[in-house]
Amino acid sequence: MRKPIIAANWKMNIGPKEAEDFLSTFTSQLDNITDEADVVIAPPYVSIPAAVSALHSNSGVSIAAQNVSEQDSGAYTGEVSTMMLKELFVRYVIIGHSERRTLYGETNALINAKIKKARAANLKPIFCIGETLDQRESGKLEEVLRSQITEGLAGIDDKDMKEIVVAYEPVWAIGTGVVATVEQAQEAHAFVRSVIADLYSGELAEKIRIQYGGSMKADNAGELLAQPDIDGGLVGGASLEPQSFLELIRAAVAAG
Ligand code: 13P
Repeated sequence: MRKPIIAANWKMNIGPKEAEDFLSTFTSQLDNITDEADVVIAPPYVSIPAAVSALHSNSGVSIAAQNVSEQDSGAYTGEVSTMMLKELFVRYVIIGHSERRTLYGETNALINAKIKKARAANLKPIFCIGETLDQRESGKLEEVLRSQITEGLAGIDDKDMKEIVVAYEPVWAIGTGVVATVEQAQEAHAFVRSVIADLYSGELAEKIRIQYGGSMKADNAGELLAQPDIDGGLVGGASLEPQSFLELIRAAVAAG
């Protein structure tokens, strides 16, 4: 049985002060929900210290970064290293988000280097993959997902793979209000799991959590999480208010 994992990707929203306010409201209403689902918040880098200090040590909520450098240190203006994140008690790191791929030119090879660097520091990657509408409509869905997975995970052994969460985010569903149908999402998730089974083993693939991302909200989270291969969500817009994120988590947990 895979424990659901629901993660908030705040993207370039919510500064340090707002993060503190958000998390004090959010954690006061979480109840025991973190027994049933792993809850993760990914603030912008500058809001991470405020977010960490606003969390009670026993809140059960983990912090993620939205990105990380593939380098250790040195002349890399604007970059942040895994060691700096570790110092802030960050546990997860989103790697290969479609916005990083399309707006900042991240390739599968760079994403692979970042995953390796994250694992070397014992951070848990949330490894994002997903196709554009063009790719889906031209029948390339499986080809695109297979190459993102194969190249992104090249050289990652079983031990490290077990610590990776995969996020399937169809690009056409991100921030558009167009959510994939449950059938489309389940089909893609099952395919992703089968590729992982080919690369590793069926047994390992059964343990990997695959999140869905793209216009997930409280009113569609339940039916998505009820699908056999959907193990959580990576949530943008609906994670920006404590109440809407709490409602989404409750709906996901009730179904998952
Ligand atoms: P939305 O939930 O705003 O569509 O964003 C999804 C996403 O990109 C999460 O990483």
